[in-house]
Amino acid sequence: MNRPRTSIHGEWSSRWAFVLAATGSAVGLGNIWKFPYIAGENGGGAFVLVYLACIVIVGVPIFIAEVLIGRRGRQSPINTMVTLSQEAGKSKHWRLLGWAGVIAGFLILSYYSVIAGWGLAYVFRSGIGLFSGASAEEVQTIFNEFLATPERLLAWHTIFMVMTMVVVARGVRSGLEKAVRYLMPCLFVLLVVLVGYAMNTAAFGQGFEFLFKPDFSKLSQDSVLIAMGHAFFTLSLGMGAIMIYGSYMPERASIAKTTFIIAGADTFVALMAGLAIFPLVFANNLEPGAGPGLMFVTLPLAFGQMPGGAFFGTLFFVLIVFAAWTSAISLIEPAVAWLVETRGMRRLTACVWAGMATWLLGVGTVLSFNLWSEVKLFGKTYFDLLDYLTANIMLPLGGLFIAVFAVWIMKEAHVREELAMINKTGYRAWRLLVRYVTPVAVLIVFLNAIGVLQHG
Ligand code: TRP
Repeated sequence: MNRPRTSIHGEWSSRWAFVLAATGSAVGLGNIWKFPYIAGENGGGAFVLVYLACIVIVGVPIFIAEVLIGRRGRQSPINTMVTLSQEAGKSKHWRLLGWAGVIAGFLILSYYSVIAGWGLAYVFRSGIGLFSGASAEEVQTIFNEFLATPERLLAWHTIFMVMTMVVVARGVRSGLEKAVRYLMPCLFVLLVVLVGYAMNTAAFGQGFEFLFKPDFSKLSQDSVLIAMGHAFFTLSLGMGAIMIYGSYMPERASIAKTTFIIAGADTFVALMAGLAIFPLVFANNLEPGAGPGLMFVTLPLAFGQMPGGAFFGTLFFVLIVFAAWTSAISLIEPAVAWLVETRGMRRLTACVWAGMATWLLGVGTVLSFNLWSEVKLFGKTYFDLLDYLTANIMLPLGGLFIAVFAVWIMKEAHVREELAMINKTGYRAWRLLVRYVTPVAVLIVFLNAIGVLQHG
């Protein structure tokens, strides 16, 4: 067998390095920016419960499938799909799944970087005390004016893209691994500090109840589907990010065990973010369903009115930038690895090209908040459409095919070899889930996405 057992791009130095890197990828704007606002919009507790169920039923099984495919293929998702479909004696067209992933990664990173850029800007804005004592109106005005200046958004987007590409250019061990080794622990410490801070506000109980007391009357059918789509986004599933991180995973590490740790950590951070945010929201009589602005408008307001708020506000935005940074690198790594493998580029050259392409796409997102804010397709701006297309269509579809590939296309002996699960019942449960339950569940999400697009 000529299949390489290590990737030409390198390997994580240990099982823990993989866990940290994959956790870094999973934990990001999705947990801290998106999860609280969609939980807020969908009524809280019941939504959170459905989201947790989706993580377990859809997320974890597909995560395992994606890692095992990556570790067996040991290349960029495109070439991994080629190698593994050949190994299974099946059509090479499966490489299109790799392509879809690379494209999804570009699209997501292009807007992800713009939002992360807001986070960067807000680090400095909190730092100089811009929000101290500001009223709701003032904070809203500051945010609106920020969004209305494309050159500012562009500048921060550019800085964040450069930060991302610098880490990716340094490679698996000295770039990706070193970054997550320092950033991830900081993030956990900062979150715990912030939740401790929120616990001391009078509204902690109210925030807690909002997140954990299910009221199913607030749950629309759409909420269920949003929760499921978010399970993909938050675990970085369905586009090859986890696949390529799996390809750098040492041979001996247990895939199932590490997956539980990563999914657990990701869920923990989302819930902690919720616990840090909602008490502040209620303590200040703010609106939990405020939408994407929840973090950038209501939090500076809340922090601005509290003693020590400038300090904690700054800390919070630093945390968001860290989290976004370790996620962004995983969105572009599949494309960079492919350029190195197939085009024979040096890693640095590949990073420059991939980074510039992503940056350029991001300009559309920057403009959709100001000059192009009235340019709409299906009633959505460029940014909304991109978010919708990637999170609700491309990721579920990619995840569906990854699941199908792992249990219907690959030879079972190979899957078993890669998973090497000691626990027979665990293996059977996984296979049963990925064969039947997970694909059907994902199909429901996907069909809904098409339906919603058609009905406006
Ligand atoms: N999971 C990250 C977050 O929650 C975002 C992310 C990183 C991602 N890599 C991904 C989403 C790959 C989908 C696919 O912010």
